[in-house]
Amino acid sequence: MGSAMDPKPELTVVDDATALADAAARAIVEIAEEAVSARRRFTVALAGGNTPRTTYERLAAAPLREQMPWDRTWIFFGDERAVPPDHPESNYRMANAALLSKVPVPAAHVARLRGEAEDADVAAAEYSKLMTEVFGSRRGELPSFDLILLGMGIDGHIASLFPGSPVLKEVFRPVAAVHAAAASIPQRMTFTLPLINAAARVMFLVAGGEKAKVVKAVLNDASSGLPASMVRPTAGRLTWLLDKSAAALLATAKSR
Ligand code: 6PG
Repeated sequence: MGSAMDPKPELTVVDDATALADAAARAIVEIAEEAVSARRRFTVALAGGNTPRTTYERLAAAPLREQMPWDRTWIFFGDERAVPPDHPESNYRMANAALLSKVPVPAAHVARLRGEAEDADVAAAEYSKLMTEVFGSRRGELPSFDLILLGMGIDGHIASLFPGSPVLKEVFRPVAAVHAAAASIPQRMTFTLPLINAAARVMFLVAGGEKAKVVKAVLNDASSGLPASMVRPTAGRLTWLLDKSAAALLATAKSR
């Protein structure tokens, strides 16, 4: 295991997607408890896609539900598709169904990206502003999340940062509207790399054999140019939680 400031990612490989959800949910509770005892609150950005669903369900059920400091937890979203919150492709809808609707997190602590907004640039700017207020960040200072959860697509995308996207070069805005031609819903909003890399902890959740190749590309070659390789928290920890199939092509992977 590495320590804070260690640029090397910390890898944990577990048997399967179920074990991944268990490990992720337990880690989230641990990070939340540490954050609350250190700073009286826990700020987390949820990932979309399918992989985290089971993790969210674990958090919403005993025993973890009772352990989470919900009243001290603030929840954001790392990305959202340009759809209303009740749309089947909405990341908020998934998180709400699996987690938020089932736990006593105060409604005012849940900040959703307005996928239904007419102007995604405006919605992204509003989200950045809200975040700055919640974090009490100074002008020009990026909020530092206690935890940002990320999934990864088979093309190496993270949040809604896709390979070759001009938004990968963003240096100023924490949240941006993007157009991802390859995605089923191309219009999206996403955290940018500066915001992701300002986090105290970034945790990837990756499962399934179809991800093995890209996991290898990202973890064995820091200069792969893939969006996932660009996640390097400047002063935080980077953790990869993988199941065996996703880690299958990693020479160094140790199971536990
Ligand atoms: C999104 C996501 C995206 C996701 C990956 C992996 O809104 O699509 O946030 O970045 O995490 O596509 O998705 P799976 O976990 O479903 O493979």
